[in-house]
Amino acid sequence: TAPTLCVLGSINLDMVIQTAHLPRAGETVTQGKFHSTPGGKGANTALAAQRLGANVRLQAAVGNDPYAKEALSSLRAAGVNLKSVATIDKEATGVAFINVAEDGENQIAVASGANAVFSPDHLSAITEAAVLSQFEIPVPTLLAGLNSYDGFVAVNASPFTPDVEKVFQRADLIIVNEGEYAAYLSDLEGYSGLLARTLGGEGAELFKNGKLIATAKPPKVEVIDTTGAGDAFAAALTVALAEGQLETDALNFACTVGALATTKLGAQSAAPTRDEVETLLKVSKT
Ligand code: RIB
Ligand code: NA
Repeated sequence: TAPTLCVLGSINLDMVIQTAHLPRAGETVTQGKFHSTPGGKGANTALAAQRLGANVRLQAAVGNDPYAKEALSSLRAAGVNLKSVATIDKEATGVAFINVAEDGENQIAVASGANAVFSPDHLSAITEAAVLSQFEIPVPTLLAGLNSYDGFVAVNASPFTPDVEKVFQRADLIIVNEGEYAAYLSDLEGYSGLLARTLGGEGAELFKNGKLIATAKPPKVEVIDTTGAGDAFAAALTVALAEGQLETDALNFACTVGALATTKLGAQSAAPTRDEVETLLKVSKT
């Protein structure tokens, strides 16, 4: 049966410009192509998990402005429960300026807006089987949510944020990329839960109590845009573990989802459906 999942996180509207290469400091790159598309790590995660078959509720905040509707449009279409999304007066909806280069690499600047004032007062009790969060909302809000909950806690520890030991102490699963892993080393001392480390196109590793228990390689895909791939990976790993999949299978599943998420432009448009993932998993087994 479909697991229930509460995502505690951010919502942004992504303003994306595709150019041949990423601009260096002080450089102007012309001939770009522009589009706006829903984003934010919380929203991306919620959408990805829902597409994989989970029943997802998102606790988050938007501003009282025209961007809010566009930022929520894909979540609404996918059937994510948005009853716990607060609209905060006199705040702007979060916005991300994203540059995407031809090789799929990106550069992101975020104006947090409503996400930065999303407070414990906006929260409602978490009753789902698992909660999944990231660091684009204030850590005290995250802790307030987690401290009144005793189920499975997954944390995609992105973007890097200092002083998050209390969050890690409450986590059952932490997801980091290579850079984050190095930056969090001291915060992770004594952590005994599951830790997934993504290695970009090389796949991912799963540790338990500091010991490597699984590795997975992603299928070969044509990379168009890596934006949101980490969010999709985190969603997939959490859903798979909540479903009771074996840890090695769950890691493999998440790697496949992460790879598929790089094959289309945009953070949410690329999140694959369950069928797409199962089909690719079958092909790579034979
Ligand atoms: O992880 C990708 C996301 O980071 C983008 O959608 C952007 O909004 C930023 O929050
Ligand atoms: Na993408």
